[in-house]
Amino acid sequence: MPAILAFEKISKRFGAVVVARALDLALAEGEALGIIGPNGAGKTTLFGIASGTVAPDAGRVVFAGIDITHLAPERRCRLGIGRSFQIPQPFNGMTVFENLVVAAAFGGGRRERDVYARCVELIEQCGLAAKANRPAGSLTLLDRKRLELARALATQPRVLLLDEVAGGLTEHECKALVDLIRDIRRGGISIIWIEHVVHALVALVDRLVVLHGGGFIGEGAPQAVIASPAVRDIYMGIPADA
Ligand SMILES: Nc1ncnc2c1ncn2[C@@H]1O[C@H](COP(=O)(O)OP(=O)(O)OP(=O)(O)O)[C@@H](O)[C@H]1O
Ligand SMILES: [Mg+2]
Repeated sequence: MPAILAFEKISKRFGAVVVARALDLALAEGEALGIIGPNGAGKTTLFGIASGTVAPDAGRVVFAGIDITHLAPERRCRLGIGRSFQIPQPFNGMTVFENLVVAAAFGGGRRERDVYARCVELIEQCGLAAKANRPAGSLTLLDRKRLELARALATQPRVLLLDEVAGGLTEHECKALVDLIRDIRRGGISIIWIEHVVHALVALVDRLVVLHGGGFIGEGAPQAVIASPAVRDIYMGIPADA
């Protein structure tokens, strides 16, 4: 399976904090990959490097065979890299529908009147039909997470980068969100999902990597990665002899 998105020998540091050290990571077309790691490991920074808001110190980012390392964020978005933010960032004063139109027209690079039907479809798919005309600022946390997903999807991504979409939700809400992500995946979109709600991640992804100290301390089948002594110790704080 060819890689749809690849980080090649990516290095990044903020002063003394090293978040990536010649890091290689490839997402296969159609794959769902999970990333976990302690707070501050550099997970969100990797999404910034892929989406163009953070410049790496060294290395390349390749999307569908194109070197995108120096492309502006909006160019990458139009090529097909969609992203949700750890802290949802809708236009609070606009309605749910208007938020999607902006994402589809600007992010997707299409004429406004050409995107209305697709926005309505996404509102249905993401469970927001009853709230289409509400201001985004009035939504509950779950609905803001759904809107964040819908906005990313409205840009017509081939790769979707999800940053902690399950955090803060109840168990029931979390399950609803995992079902939605599974549905999105069935539509053929490749996914990288950063998440601290590990059981949600394990339920969905094909492969899991664990970021720590600028490199991956675990990589492979989700259950096996979670069970490894190094991951239990560094990420979950469970000493090897416990
Ligand atoms: N623009 C910046 N300037 C300086 N330091 C930064 C900047 N962005 C991130 N950092 C630092 O880099 C490190 C990695 O941050 P990042 O947000 O990528 O971590 P994370 O793995 O997403 O953490 P969390 O699980 O808490 O979301 C942190 O120490 C953070 O303070
Ligand atoms: Mg983060």
